[in-house]
Amino acid sequence: MRILFLNGPNLNLLGQREPQVYGRTTLAEIETKVRKRAKRLRVTINFRQSNQEGELVNWIQDARGKFDVIVLNAAAYTHTSIALRDTIAAVGIPTVEIHLSNVHAREEFRHKSMIAPVCAGQIVGFGVNSYLLGLEAAVNINGG
Ligand code: DQA
Repeated sequence: MRILFLNGPNLNLLGQREPQVYGRTTLAEIETKVRKRAKRLRVTINFRQSNQEGELVNWIQDARGKFDVIVLNAAAYTHTSIALRDTIAAVGIPTVEIHLSNVHAREEFRHKSMIAPVCAGQIVGFGVNSYLLGLEAAVNINGG
């Protein structure tokens, strides 16, 4: 099984960025944890980050035939991007929406996810563990 992890804007700043909200773990450290767990689960992962909406759109389009599941932390684009939503719907690759923080306990504008209706499900609020839970969800997407 091949799983594509995509990270949206500002997640490259994890570790320094609002640590009271997002913790002190860097994205590289998260990737290491995800890779270790993926190895144990015997699945292949690819882990990427972009600050650009169009690049995320291209990566999702290019995932067709190459990845079985996408785990997506679209960051702020979660709340704004009809383009990402349309791309997820267009390619039809099962997608797991994840967030480090509990977006529902934060500002009202974070309560709305443009991508949620086209995702298989959402994992929010578990910090770094949201990534590991996202991996578990991806591996078991067809019932395990
Ligand atoms: C986030 C939540 C978003 O609202 C925010 O814009 C982010 C990070 C999270 O992982 O908690 O950049 O996706």
